[in-house]
Amino acid sequence: MQFGVISLLPEIIEPMLNVGVVGRAVKQQRISVEFAQPRDFTNDAHRTVDDRPFGGGPGMVMKPEPLVQCIASLKKNLPAAPVVYLSPQGKPLRQSTIRRWQGGGSLILLAGRYEGIDERVIDTHIDEEVSIGDYVLSGGEIAAMAVIDAISRLVPGVLGHPDSALEDSFGDHGLLDCPHYTRPEKFDEKSVPAVLLSGDHQAIAIWRRKLALKRTWERRPDLLANATLSDSDKQYLQQLEAAQQDNEPAGDR
Ligand code: ADE
Repeated sequence: MQFGVISLLPEIIEPMLNVGVVGRAVKQQRISVEFAQPRDFTNDAHRTVDDRPFGGGPGMVMKPEPLVQCIASLKKNLPAAPVVYLSPQGKPLRQSTIRRWQGGGSLILLAGRYEGIDERVIDTHIDEEVSIGDYVLSGGEIAAMAVIDAISRLVPGVLGHPDSALEDSFGDHGLLDCPHYTRPEKFDEKSVPAVLLSGDHQAIAIWRRKLALKRTWERRPDLLANATLSDSDKQYLQQLEAAQQDNEPAGDR
Protein backbone atom coordinates (compact mmCIF):
# COMPACT_ATOMS: atom_id res chain seq x y z
CA MET A 1 0.00 0.00 0.00
CA GLN A 2 1.43 3.37 -1.00
CA PHE A 3 0.40 6.56 0.79
CA GLY A 4 1.07 10.14 -0.23
CA VAL A 5 0.48 12.69 2.51
CA ILE A 6 0.17 16.46 2.07
CA SER A 7 0.85 18.24 5.35
CA LEU A 8 2.42 21.40 6.76
CA LEU A 9 3.42 19.37 9.84
CA PRO A 10 4.70 15.95 8.76
CA GLU A 11 6.56 15.84 12.12
CA ILE A 12 3.22 14.92 13.71
CA ILE A 13 2.86 11.85 11.49
CA GLU A 14 6.45 10.64 11.09
CA PRO A 15 6.85 9.04 14.56
CA MET A 16 4.00 6.62 13.93
CA LEU A 17 5.90 5.20 10.96
CA ASN A 18 8.59 3.80 13.28
CA VAL A 19 6.51 1.98 15.90
CA GLY A 20 3.88 -0.68 16.37
CA VAL A 21 1.90 -2.31 13.61
CA VAL A 22 2.47 0.56 11.16
CA GLY A 23 6.21 0.65 11.97
CA ARG A 24 6.46 -3.07 11.22
CA ALA A 25 4.54 -2.62 7.96
CA VAL A 26 6.99 0.10 6.87
CA LYS A 27 10.05 -1.99 7.81
CA GLN A 28 8.64 -4.96 5.89
CA GLN A 29 7.99 -2.64 2.93
CA ARG A 30 4.32 -3.59 2.91
CA ILE A 31 3.42 0.12 3.12
CA SER A 32 5.26 3.29 2.11
CA VAL A 33 4.54 6.93 2.94
CA GLU A 34 5.73 9.85 0.82
CA PHE A 35 5.18 13.41 2.10
CA ALA A 36 4.56 16.60 0.16
CA GLN A 37 5.13 19.95 1.93
CA PRO A 38 2.93 22.81 0.63
CA ARG A 39 5.64 25.34 1.66
CA ASP A 40 7.94 23.76 -0.93
CA PHE A 41 5.51 24.96 -3.61
CA THR A 42 5.47 28.68 -2.73
CA ASN A 43 7.35 31.51 -4.44
CA ASP A 44 7.59 34.18 -1.72
CA ALA A 45 10.31 34.65 0.89
CA HIS A 46 7.91 33.76 3.73
CA ARG A 47 6.77 30.57 2.02
CA THR A 48 3.16 31.65 2.57
CA VAL A 49 0.57 28.88 2.37
CA ASP A 50 -2.47 30.67 3.85
CA ASP A 51 -4.39 33.90 3.35
CA ARG A 52 -7.39 35.79 4.73
CA PRO A 53 -10.85 34.52 3.76
CA PHE A 54 -12.78 36.47 1.12
CA GLY A 55 -15.88 37.92 2.77
CA GLY A 56 -14.05 38.43 6.06
CA GLY A 57 -14.26 36.49 9.26
CA PRO A 58 -11.79 34.87 11.62
CA GLY A 59 -9.00 32.47 10.74
CA MET A 60 -7.01 31.83 7.60
CA VAL A 61 -7.62 29.64 4.56
CA MET A 62 -5.02 27.45 2.85
CA LYS A 63 -4.18 28.85 -0.59
CA PRO A 64 -5.02 26.63 -3.56
CA GLU A 65 -1.81 26.74 -5.66
CA PRO A 66 0.60 24.97 -3.25
CA LEU A 67 -1.97 22.26 -2.52
CA VAL A 68 -2.69 21.53 -6.17
CA GLN A 69 1.03 21.35 -6.87
CA CYS A 70 1.51 18.94 -3.95
CA ILE A 71 -1.20 16.70 -5.40
CA ALA A 72 0.43 16.81 -8.85
CA SER A 73 3.84 16.02 -7.38
CA LEU A 74 2.54 12.98 -5.45
CA LYS A 75 0.55 11.79 -8.48
CA LYS A 76 3.82 11.34 -10.38
CA ASN A 77 4.51 8.24 -8.26
CA LEU A 78 0.87 7.44 -7.44
CA PRO A 79 -1.04 8.17 -10.66
CA ALA A 80 -4.09 6.08 -9.74
CA ALA A 81 -4.38 7.18 -6.09
CA PRO A 82 -7.70 8.74 -5.04
CA VAL A 83 -7.17 12.09 -3.28
CA VAL A 84 -8.84 12.28 0.14
CA TYR A 85 -9.30 15.49 2.12
CA LEU A 86 -9.66 15.06 5.89
CA SER A 87 -12.09 17.58 7.38
CA PRO A 88 -14.94 17.80 9.89
CA GLN A 89 -17.24 18.59 6.92
CA GLY A 90 -16.50 15.21 5.31
CA LYS A 91 -18.65 12.07 5.26
CA PRO A 92 -18.13 9.93 8.38
CA LEU A 93 -15.27 7.49 7.81
CA ARG A 94 -16.33 3.83 7.98
CA GLN A 95 -14.49 0.52 7.97
CA SER A 96 -16.06 -0.26 4.57
CA THR A 97 -14.30 2.81 3.14
CA ILE A 98 -11.01 1.74 4.75
CA ARG A 99 -11.38 -1.70 3.11
CA ARG A 100 -12.11 -0.13 -0.28
CA TRP A 101 -9.07 2.16 -0.07
CA GLN A 102 -6.84 -0.73 0.99
CA GLY A 103 -8.04 -2.67 -2.05
CA GLY A 104 -7.03 0.22 -4.32
CA GLY A 105 -3.34 -0.02 -3.33
CA SER A 106 -2.59 3.71 -3.15
CA LEU A 107 -4.07 6.79 -1.51
CA ILE A 108 -3.21 10.49 -1.25
CA LEU A 109 -4.25 12.15 2.02
CA LEU A 110 -4.54 15.92 2.33
CA ALA A 111 -4.36 17.18 5.91
CA GLY A 112 -5.56 20.77 6.19
CA ARG A 113 -4.78 23.35 8.89
CA TYR A 114 -6.30 26.73 9.81
CA GLU A 115 -9.99 27.19 8.88
CA GLY A 116 -9.65 24.80 5.96
CA ILE A 117 -8.64 24.88 2.31
CA ASP A 118 -9.90 26.91 -0.66
CA GLU A 119 -13.14 25.27 -1.80
CA ARG A 120 -12.00 25.21 -5.46
CA VAL A 121 -9.34 22.64 -4.57
CA ILE A 122 -12.09 20.42 -3.18
CA ASP A 123 -14.27 21.00 -6.24
CA THR A 124 -11.74 19.86 -8.81
CA HIS A 125 -8.88 17.97 -7.14
CA ILE A 126 -10.42 16.03 -4.25
CA ASP A 127 -12.15 12.69 -4.81
CA GLU A 128 -13.51 12.19 -1.29
CA GLU A 129 -13.83 14.35 1.83
CA VAL A 130 -14.05 12.37 5.08
CA SER A 131 -14.34 13.12 8.80
CA ILE A 132 -13.14 10.86 11.61
CA GLY A 133 -15.81 12.10 14.02
CA ASP A 134 -18.04 14.93 15.12
CA TYR A 135 -15.35 17.02 16.78
CA VAL A 136 -12.85 19.54 15.43
CA LEU A 137 -9.13 18.78 15.43
CA SER A 138 -6.59 21.55 14.92
CA GLY A 139 -5.49 19.90 11.69
CA GLY A 140 -6.05 16.84 9.53
CA GLU A 141 -2.80 15.09 10.53
CA ILE A 142 -4.35 13.01 13.32
CA ALA A 143 -7.16 12.01 10.97
CA ALA A 144 -4.60 11.05 8.29
CA MET A 145 -2.78 8.94 10.89
CA ALA A 146 -6.04 7.18 11.73
CA VAL A 147 -6.53 6.35 8.05
CA ILE A 148 -2.94 5.10 7.61
CA ASP A 149 -3.24 2.93 10.73
CA ALA A 150 -6.63 1.47 9.84
CA ILE A 151 -5.56 0.63 6.27
CA SER A 152 -2.12 -0.73 7.20
CA ARG A 153 -3.50 -3.40 9.51
CA LEU A 154 -5.60 -4.75 6.61
CA VAL A 155 -2.60 -5.09 4.29
CA PRO A 156 -1.89 -8.84 3.91
CA GLY A 157 0.97 -9.97 6.13
CA VAL A 158 0.91 -6.95 8.46
CA LEU A 159 -1.12 -8.47 11.31
CA GLY A 160 0.33 -11.56 12.98
CA HIS A 161 -2.99 -13.38 12.92
CA PRO A 162 -4.92 -12.93 9.65
CA ASP A 163 -8.27 -13.48 11.40
CA SER A 164 -7.63 -10.59 13.82
CA ALA A 165 -8.87 -7.99 11.37
CA LEU A 166 -11.96 -10.03 10.50
CA GLU A 167 -13.06 -10.41 14.12
CA ASP A 168 -12.62 -6.76 15.04
CA SER A 169 -15.46 -4.40 15.58
CA PHE A 170 -16.95 -3.68 12.13
CA GLY A 171 -15.32 -6.82 10.78
CA ASP A 172 -17.18 -9.01 8.33
CA HIS A 173 -20.33 -9.18 10.46
CA GLY A 174 -20.62 -5.40 11.06
CA LEU A 175 -21.04 -5.64 14.85
CA LEU A 176 -19.04 -4.26 17.76
CA ASP A 177 -16.54 -6.74 19.20
CA CYS A 178 -17.38 -8.92 22.22
CA PRO A 179 -15.57 -8.43 25.59
CA HIS A 180 -12.16 -10.09 26.07
CA TYR A 181 -10.50 -11.52 29.19
CA THR A 182 -7.06 -12.85 30.09
CA ARG A 183 -5.28 -14.06 33.25
CA PRO A 184 -5.78 -13.76 36.21
CA GLU A 185 -9.11 -15.61 36.44
CA LYS A 186 -10.16 -13.36 39.34
CA PHE A 187 -9.38 -9.64 39.34
CA ASP A 188 -10.95 -6.91 41.51
CA GLU A 189 -13.31 -9.57 42.89
CA LYS A 190 -14.59 -10.21 39.37
CA SER A 191 -14.35 -13.63 37.74
CA VAL A 192 -13.96 -14.39 34.06
CA PRO A 193 -17.29 -15.64 32.61
CA ALA A 194 -17.34 -19.41 33.26
CA VAL A 195 -18.12 -20.33 29.66
CA LEU A 196 -14.73 -18.99 28.52
CA LEU A 197 -13.00 -21.50 30.83
CA SER A 198 -15.21 -24.42 29.76
CA GLY A 199 -13.23 -25.51 26.72
CA ASP A 200 -16.57 -25.87 24.88
CA HIS A 201 -15.75 -24.02 21.65
CA GLN A 202 -19.29 -24.00 20.35
CA ALA A 203 -20.67 -22.57 23.61
CA ILE A 204 -17.88 -19.95 23.58
CA ALA A 205 -18.70 -18.92 19.99
CA ILE A 206 -22.40 -18.58 20.87
CA TRP A 207 -21.59 -16.53 23.98
CA ARG A 208 -19.27 -14.20 22.02
CA ARG A 209 -21.85 -13.68 19.33
CA LYS A 210 -24.53 -12.83 21.90
CA LEU A 211 -22.28 -10.37 23.71
CA ALA A 212 -21.32 -8.71 20.41
CA LEU A 213 -25.02 -8.38 19.55
CA LYS A 214 -25.89 -7.05 23.02
CA ARG A 215 -23.13 -4.43 22.97
CA THR A 216 -24.06 -3.28 19.50
CA TRP A 217 -27.73 -3.10 20.46
CA GLU A 218 -26.90 -1.08 23.60
CA ARG A 219 -24.20 1.24 22.22
CA ARG A 220 -24.58 1.46 18.44
CA PRO A 221 -28.08 0.30 17.46
CA ASP A 222 -27.57 2.15 14.13
CA LEU A 223 -25.10 -0.55 13.07
CA LEU A 224 -27.69 -3.34 13.36
CA ALA A 225 -29.51 -2.14 10.25
CA ASN A 226 -26.52 -3.09 8.04
CA ALA A 227 -25.17 -6.04 10.03
CA THR A 228 -25.27 -9.59 8.69
CA LEU A 229 -27.71 -11.31 11.08
CA SER A 230 -28.81 -14.94 11.27
CA ASP A 231 -32.30 -15.98 12.40
CA SER A 232 -30.97 -16.81 15.85
CA ASP A 233 -29.26 -13.40 16.04
CA LYS A 234 -32.58 -11.73 15.26
CA GLN A 235 -34.34 -13.89 17.85
CA TYR A 236 -31.81 -12.88 20.48
CA LEU A 237 -32.24 -9.18 19.63
CA GLN A 238 -36.01 -9.59 19.99
CA GLN A 239 -35.40 -11.08 23.45
CA LEU A 240 -33.31 -8.05 24.38
CA GLU A 241 -36.07 -5.71 23.17
CA ALA A 242 -38.73 -7.65 25.09
CA ALA A 243 -36.65 -7.66 28.29
CA GLN A 244 -36.16 -3.90 27.98
CA GLN A 245 -39.89 -3.32 27.61
CA ASP A 246 -40.58 -5.51 30.67
CA ASN A 247 -38.17 -3.36 32.68
CA GLU A 248 -39.60 -0.03 31.57
CA PRO A 249 -42.11 1.57 33.92
CA ALA A 250 -45.65 1.22 32.46
CA GLY A 251 -45.86 5.01 31.99
CA ASP A 252 -43.04 4.94 29.43
CA ARG A 253 -44.95 2.73 26.99
N1 ADE B 1 -9.70 17.93 10.64
C1 ADE B 1 -10.17 18.61 11.70
N2 ADE B 1 -11.12 17.93 12.33
C2 ADE B 1 -11.28 16.75 11.64
C3 ADE B 1 -12.13 15.64 11.79
N3 ADE B 1 -13.02 15.54 12.77
N4 ADE B 1 -12.00 14.64 10.90
C4 ADE B 1 -11.12 14.73 9.88
N5 ADE B 1 -10.30 15.75 9.70
C5 ADE B 1 -10.37 16.78 10.56
